[in-house]
Amino acid sequence: MEDHYFSASPSSPDERSPLTVELAGREVTVEVAPGIFSPGGLDKGTAVLLREVPDPPTHGAFLDLGCGWGPIALTLGLLSPEASVRAVDVNERAVDLCERNAKALGLTGVAACAPDAVPADETYSRIWSNPPIRIGKKALHTLLLTWLPRLEPGGEAYLVVQKNLGSDSLATWLGAHLPDGFVTDRLTSSKGFRVLRVRRSA
Ligand SMILES: C[S@@+](CC[C@H](N)C(=O)[O-])C[C@H]1O[C@@H](n2cnc3c(N)ncnc32)[C@H](O)[C@@H]1O
Repeated sequence: MEDHYFSASPSSPDERSPLTVELAGREVTVEVAPGIFSPGGLDKGTAVLLREVPDPPTHGAFLDLGCGWGPIALTLGLLSPEASVRAVDVNERAVDLCERNAKALGLTGVAACAPDAVPADETYSRIWSNPPIRIGKKALHTLLLTWLPRLEPGGEAYLVVQKNLGSDSLATWLGAHLPDGFVTDRLTSSKGFRVLRVRRSA
């Protein structure tokens, strides 16, 4: 079967290599491997998200939906070391890399796992994601309707989506399908990417 970045168990050799990137204004070295999303460096969309989104609160529970090797979860952990950061991914190699990268940086608040391992009652004040558009519209909609309702009252989610991969229609769809009390708008547009913001009323 063809290997995707969202394969549960990638068939490519699990050869780890170091990658030096800037996260939260700090140069850090992480581990990456083939068979996951963007192992060669920080994805352009992720970079837009990390640059444009307001800093998270110092405390609280945050979610990185679809963590890959962890650039978003690690940034949340570096910015708010006392917060709890949940990072989830269906790709087992990505989960392992994110977990190891967090440990190596001493980010004890970051915990990576498979989506099914997250307690059903866990909620978040912030959700940051570069969501897996390539899984297809139906699967993406199901994914977002599974996780966005876990926003706490007053909580905010930020999603970066490439403009030509349907960011505007996704924003309209979210507006129509999220429960009452959720408002979706566009935070910003940069370099062909939109950052969508979903807010839950307090
Ligand atoms: C566009 S990538 C972003 C990865 C990483 N956050 C980054 O910015 O480099 C989306 C990620 O979502 C993961 N993914 C796909 N389907 C998922 C699902 N149902 N639940 C959680 N993560 C999923 C993919 O494996 C992939 O790592």
